[in-house]
Amino acid sequence: MKKVLIGLLVTVGATSVAYAEGNPDAGKPLTAVCSACHSADGNSLAPTFPKLAGQNEAYLLKQMTEIKAGVRPVAQMTGMLDGLSEQNLADIAAYFASQNTAIGQAAPELVAQGEALYRDGNPATGVPACTACHGPAGKGLNSAAFPSLSGQHADYTASQLKMFQSGERSNDTAKIMQNIAFKMNDQEIQAVSSYIQGLH
Ligand code: HEC
Ligand code: HEC
Repeated sequence: MKKVLIGLLVTVGATSVAYAEGNPDAGKPLTAVCSACHSADGNSLAPTFPKLAGQNEAYLLKQMTEIKAGVRPVAQMTGMLDGLSEQNLADIAAYFASQNTAIGQAAPELVAQGEALYRDGNPATGVPACTACHGPAGKGLNSAAFPSLSGQHADYTASQLKMFQSGERSNDTAKIMQNIAFKMNDQEIQAVSSYIQGLH
C-alpha cells in the first residue's frame, strides 16, 4: 500500500515538473508588446481580443507554445513569440494568471438559455454540460489545462466555438471542443457565450 502511494506521488510530481515554473515578476516586462491588444493587466478592452487576466497558467502556456509553433494560427500575433524562450513563455503565463479577471455582463434575455446549456448541456443533441470541465464558476482546471471561461468577452467565446466547429481551430487535445461545438447551433453559441461573459 505504502509503495503504491509513493509510486503515485512520484508520478504526480514528475508530471508537474514537466512544465517550466513561471515567475510573474520576470514575465511582466515581457508583456509590453502584448498590451496593445490584451491590455497591460490582460483585461483586453476590444471583444475580439481574449482576456488573459486570471486565465489558468498551464492553459496559457499551452496556447502560447502552439501559437508560436503555428499549430494554432493567430495571424495578428505572427512572429511575436519567436524571440521568446520556453522560460519566457512560462513567466508570461504566470504573470497573466496572477491578474484578476474583469467580469462582464450577460444579456438578460439570454441568461436562462445560456445557463441551462452551461449547467446541463443539451441531452437531445448530445452537447455535454460545460461545468464538467470548465467548472460551475467557469474557472476551468489548471492541472488539466482546462481554460477558465469566466468573464471572457462573448464575441471572442462565440468566435472560438465557431472556429472549433469549422475545424479552423484544431489544437484541442482529442478534439474535445471540436466535437462539442459541432453539435451546437448558432443560437446556443450566442446564449452560452453571453452567459459566460457574466459568469464568476
Ligand atoms: C495585434 C494584436 C495582438 C497582440 C499585440 C498580441 N496578441 Fe495575443 N491574441 C490576439 C488575438 C486576435 C487572439 C485570438 C485569436 C483567435 O481568435 O483565435 C490572441 C490570442 C492569444 C492567446 C490565447 C488566449 C486564449 O484564451 O486562448 C494568448 C495566450 C495570447 N494571445 C498571448 C499573447 C502574448 C503573450 C502577447 C505578447 C507577447 C500577445 N498575445 C500579443 C492578438 C494579439
Ligand atoms: C470534456 C471537457 C470539456 C467540456 C465538457 C467542455 N470543454 Fe471547453 N475546453 C476544454 C478544453 C480541454 C479546452 C482547451 C483546448 C485547447 O487546449 O486548445 C477547452 C476550450 C474551450 C474554449 C476556448 C477558450 C479560449 O480561451 O480560447 C471555449 C470557448 C470553450 N472551451 C467552451 C466550452 C463550452 C461553451 C462548453 C459547453 C457547451 C464546453 N467548453 C465544454 C474541455 C471541455
